Amino acid sequence: MCGIIARIGHGNAAETLLSGLENLEYRGYDSAGIAVQNGSGVKVHKCSGEVSDLKSTLSTQPHGNMGIGHTRWSTHGPPTDENAHPHTDTAGDVAVVHNGVIDNYDELRAELQEKGHEFDSDTDTEVIPHLIDEYRDATGDTEQAVRRAVDTLEGSYAIAAIVDGEEAVYAARKGSPLVLGLDEEEWFLASDVPAFLDHTDEVIYLEDGDLVVLEPDSYQITDLDGNPIERPVDTVDWDPEDAGKGEYDHYMLKEIHNQPTSLANTIEGRVEDGDVAFEALPPGSFDGIESVQFVACGTSYHAAMYGSQLVREAGIRADVLRASEYESTTGPVDETTLTIAVTQSGETADTLDALRTAADRGARTLAVTNVVGSTAAREADDAVYIRAGPEVGVAATKTYSSQAVTLALLSQRIAGDVPDATPADDRAAMLEALADLPEHVETVLESTHAETLAQDTLDSESFFFIGSGLGRSVALEGALKFKEITYEHAEGFAAGELKHGPLALVTEETPLFAVYTSGDDEKTKTNAIEAKSRGAPIVAVGPTDHPLVDVADAHLSVPETHPVWAGLLANVQLQLLSYHAAKQLERPIDKPRNLAKSVTVE
Ligand code: F6R
Repeated sequence: MCGIIARIGHGNAAETLLSGLENLEYRGYDSAGIAVQNGSGVKVHKCSGEVSDLKSTLSTQPHGNMGIGHTRWSTHGPPTDENAHPHTDTAGDVAVVHNGVIDNYDELRAELQEKGHEFDSDTDTEVIPHLIDEYRDATGDTEQAVRRAVDTLEGSYAIAAIVDGEEAVYAARKGSPLVLGLDEEEWFLASDVPAFLDHTDEVIYLEDGDLVVLEPDSYQITDLDGNPIERPVDTVDWDPEDAGKGEYDHYMLKEIHNQPTSLANTIEGRVEDGDVAFEALPPGSFDGIESVQFVACGTSYHAAMYGSQLVREAGIRADVLRASEYESTTGPVDETTLTIAVTQSGETADTLDALRTAADRGARTLAVTNVVGSTAAREADDAVYIRAGPEVGVAATKTYSSQAVTLALLSQRIAGDVPDATPADDRAAMLEALADLPEHVETVLESTHAETLAQDTLDSESFFFIGSGLGRSVALEGALKFKEITYEHAEGFAAGELKHGPLALVTEETPLFAVYTSGDDEKTKTNAIEAKSRGAPIVAVGPTDHPLVDVADAHLSVPETHPVWAGLLANVQLQLLSYHAAKQLERPIDKPRNLAKSVTVE
């Protein structure tokens, strides 16, 4: 939540800062701002609204070769012009952007006010420029002042600061992501790589406790005591085009259509000679493991449901837990437990918290994530990447598919190491069918049924989604996506639960989407028919060869395949349904209200 960027080098900074912020808007989009530094001081431009609103307030491009920028998802104080970042000290000499939450800002603010500092906003961030200013006066040295300021802060932060009269950007991180981008003629700092991917793919993932000073021709990383630190330079294998919208109206549609490619990347090299292989997890990696627990939030939780069912089917005890409820739902955890954090961003606060708690209790930990160098990847004992490429639309689409496939493969890898576990009976057929998944997704993307159905059902009161087994994960995910971007009421249920309460809500005005993955799914059929006899229009979502298709009012069909992959195809149909419904309702599809992609607060 909140995205920050900084740039220093030769030439003008403002344009780069603004386009970088546009690529970070998935992290928050209720206010935006930049500060640039030139011979005539630090100039701040900020407002509530999106980056496009900020751009329209700038009659000319602000001038200066270095600057910082911010796009906000409010935590402390509403989205007003005053609360937008950058924030400055009283004299306006120090400007700071911040991602994170400062827990002790109340007491710091009171202390600073007593010393004569004047505050303009309700934010926790504003204490930071005032602290830097205070310590500059005390030490006469800005780097020392930044070091002391961050040492005083409790909570989480990634910050970048510029100071009047200094050709430098100062930055530090603790608990919030910060990546350094290295180009020939300019340096960048940002919350995430897409902010500067147009310029460079050479990056350094900074660690908690790192303090960075960027100057036009050099950069220096030190720890909080001032000792120099060497960090490896990585090359990001994302294409700059992956981070843009291309020919599509929305990132979400682009990312839905990217799935044949992203899934091919997820699978590549992981199925060899009828067996599953993960480079980072050779045979024997899971020796000693007796049970698996998955921790995740939102869409990632639904993918984890998918994975946990396959681990259980392999004869291994497996639970899937909502990361935000980890403390109250986990059973005993010890060194025989494998805790798998499933997180697209690798930065979700609740998921990281659950991961750390499990590690403290002795569990082995594994991160399944999309973002190389993310906090989850760095903190877990091992990391497996889903390789979906950058996902910018706030509603997760391609990453759900890549997570589910990665976890399905992982279930087979784990089963290879756990005594008495039995990899799937029809594993060969399952892995063979996986090779066709990208092509099958292509077939679903070519069909226009979801778009037509979105139009036909638009006036409904509520939208219900049911499924059983793997279909339940898809039903819950279908409902989450639908409500998230259409703002219409949608709920997902286990098919068998319908008659234990939700059936009371079913009328002619409540279409019911029944997701199934194989012809054997009697439970979904029976419950759908019960809803139909109460008047609900039924939409069958799955392969054609199922008795439900004959009784349903409509069918979102998917190609015949192995049941383990059929649910993922059904999910693509539901992604299209949500997208087209939201489009017809003229919703801001890529930036649904009140949400942000990377939820770094609990
Ligand atoms: C919904 C969505 C969220 C995320 C959730 C976890 O479309 O994207 O529900 O899945 O916030 O995020 P990650 O996977 O980054 O931990």
